[in-house]
Amino acid sequence: MDIIEKNKTRMAHLSENSAELSKQIEALDWNELKSALNECIFQKEEASLPAEYDPASYFPLAPENAEQKTLYDKAFKHGEVLIRNGKTAAFTVAGGQGTRLGYDGPKGTLPVSPIKKKPLFQLFAEQILGISKKYEVTIPWYIMCSPLNLKATTAHFEEKNFYGLGKENIKFFAQGVMPATDFEGNLLRASQDSLALSPNGHGGSLKALIDSGSVADMAKRGIEHVSYFQVDNPLVSTINPLFIGLHDLQQSDMSSRSLTKTGPFEKLGNFVSIGDRITIIEYSDLPEEKALEKEDDGRIKYRAGSPAIHILRRDFIEQFASGEIKLPYHRAEKKVSYIDDNGNLINPDEPNAVKFETFVFDALPLAKNPLILEADRLEEFSPVKNKTGIDSLESSRSDQSKRARRWIEKAGYTVNEESTVEISPRTFPSTHDLQGADLQQYDLDSKIIYLGDEKRTDQ
Ligand code: UTP
Repeated sequence: MDIIEKNKTRMAHLSENSAELSKQIEALDWNELKSALNECIFQKEEASLPAEYDPASYFPLAPENAEQKTLYDKAFKHGEVLIRNGKTAAFTVAGGQGTRLGYDGPKGTLPVSPIKKKPLFQLFAEQILGISKKYEVTIPWYIMCSPLNLKATTAHFEEKNFYGLGKENIKFFAQGVMPATDFEGNLLRASQDSLALSPNGHGGSLKALIDSGSVADMAKRGIEHVSYFQVDNPLVSTINPLFIGLHDLQQSDMSSRSLTKTGPFEKLGNFVSIGDRITIIEYSDLPEEKALEKEDDGRIKYRAGSPAIHILRRDFIEQFASGEIKLPYHRAEKKVSYIDDNGNLINPDEPNAVKFETFVFDALPLAKNPLILEADRLEEFSPVKNKTGIDSLESSRSDQSKRARRWIEKAGYTVNEESTVEISPRTFPSTHDLQGADLQQYDLDSKIIYLGDEKRTDQ
């Protein structure tokens, strides 16, 4: 008996006394499960790398010659026109479980800013509000949650009165889930009444954008480009004119930001090129000798890492509607508590289960004219992933403050290196918006400096 038939028979038996479980089993997409099992368990290949690949080329952060300078100037202006004309939407993927952080609640509600302790969602909302005001336009915001955190996320926004963006301009929806199995492909139950289900990875966002009607809503609003970012990076530039402009001028289906890796083995996906296409090789899959390769000037060759910031053309996303083009499943081995067939709860000490996830960057090789634009790490990336150490709340707060000091200095003022600084993204959504601003009203000698319309009420 094949594994699907075996699962069907076993589940029919186990769900005899549970209407809830019966309903789940009926709703299960068995074909999808079959694909996932084949890709991740039965035909699992060792890190299937492309036969030949090179480091992907990218547009550097600062233009390197006159021609590039002209292109960047043109792209920035073009991006601004697209934003002003209502062609861009913000899109946050917030369906993850945040297991490493272990925070009780949707990650977007985590108080993250250094002084005001604004939640991640508030920082994005304020930035979108600030940009909308600047360009006199409504920028719709799509937020993908999971069935596990959708209710808590919408409740948060309701409580905060949608941060002033207007209920009608924020669309929340849930991504799909996949059942977890043991290493042989047998379905696991979280309880007598439920399978062990988990979100199907951020790659699920493309289908979820379609199934939730979000793409149709975008089409109605005349949106052409979708600015994709993760919920855990407070420094992200949610709607970036240069990036959007370059992406559109080069007629790219999907564009990405890159960071220069801190070392050959930094845990970021590596951008590589295969002919005229781009793909990402995960840090764990890039062979060591490749990771260590150097250019003549001493820089590592595979230095472009991915901070998971993309722009996708709306009509590129629409291609995923029919289900004919699909993203591959990745195998994640995790500890999953389950009840065995005798009803005993098992809490494993070691990974015992396979979760099936798709990754959004697997759409990159399908994209025409993909481009990569380098980003400055301190300006754009400091995610909150871990409880302590690298990529933690503490490191992110410190980076937010560091960037704020830098913005003030760029605007021509001096500020003490020891000061904790926070800038309201509603008042100053980008470093450009601080240029020429009169900061005399703020006490820049203070140890705690808050720049924003609300003034320095925390001091
Ligand atoms: P991560 O890969 O960091 O996963 O997600 P995570 O679930 O947030 O955290 P850990 O690994 O359990 O500690 C990167 C981004 O992708 C989103 C997350 O919300 C985050 O913004 N994501 C991840 C989804 O939206 N759905 C998923 O199924 C997985």
